[in-house]
Amino acid sequence: MGDPVTPLPAGLVGRLATARRVVALTGAGVSAESGVPTFREAQTGLWARFRPEELATPEAFAADPRTVWAWYEWRRDLVAAAAPNPGHHALAQFESLVPGFTLITQNVDGLHARAGSRRVIEFHGNLFTNRCFAGCGAEADVPRPCPEPPRCPHCGAWMRPGVVWFGEAIPIEALQAAKAAVDRCEMLLVIGTSALVTPAAGLALRAHEAGAMVAEINISPTGLDGVAQFRLAGPSGELLPRLVEAVRARREMHS
Ligand code: OAD
Repeated sequence: MGDPVTPLPAGLVGRLATARRVVALTGAGVSAESGVPTFREAQTGLWARFRPEELATPEAFAADPRTVWAWYEWRRDLVAAAAPNPGHHALAQFESLVPGFTLITQNVDGLHARAGSRRVIEFHGNLFTNRCFAGCGAEADVPRPCPEPPRCPHCGAWMRPGVVWFGEAIPIEALQAAKAAVDRCEMLLVIGTSALVTPAAGLALRAHEAGAMVAEINISPTGLDGVAQFRLAGPSGELLPRLVEAVRARREMHS
């Protein structure tokens, strides 16, 4: 006998087949099957091996820019060598299937865009962008590999990775766009996130309170179990392609 296959709830497929505005909120779990480590999983998560306060805060960068920069270079190498997996591709297909589909990702790896998703809100920034640490506002491309933190071409301060660190605010455009999409959506898919980090996790609660249906795809239970009407237990790289195919078939039946 093969592994039991998680059934796709008919109510979920039916709702996705008729919905006009759907939002997907993704986290590190979506990229796990591409070989990109998650953060909080007990043995393999980055925060099991590294201390976030030494690598992912403005204070850490100010104290030791070289170490922090080198850690981000290591992560860039890892992601550059990875490829989008079937879960990323399925989410890109959702965009062509559902007219008002918005993808909000906490991931900084850029794999959704590499899979073909176009409407992506990068809530925590992007590993491959850089901006001035002194706040002169400059953003600059940095040729890779770049073992040492580069200097800002405008003011000469250190350049830092363009990601959101602990204690920092979400970029205002991303926050506003995400809230607007969530407030309008009929359905929110929460995929591969532990939903422990706010304000991203708060988006799920916000959607639920605004009357949207919430569905969760995750290999493990999360704190969202109370708000999710549907819970699909399993890897997103397997479940999302099945879900998109079921929704496509149902949409074709209706058209
Ligand atoms: P976490 O590491 O906290 O959670 C990853 C989630 O993915 C867990 O709930 C796993 O059960 C699930 N998971 C793992 N593999 C999966 C798979 N193949 N299919 C489906 N689910 C899977 O990562 P995030 O929730 O993304 O922030 O973490 C949120 C934020 O915390 C990150 O964006 C990062 C981190 O600190 C910043 O760097 C600002």
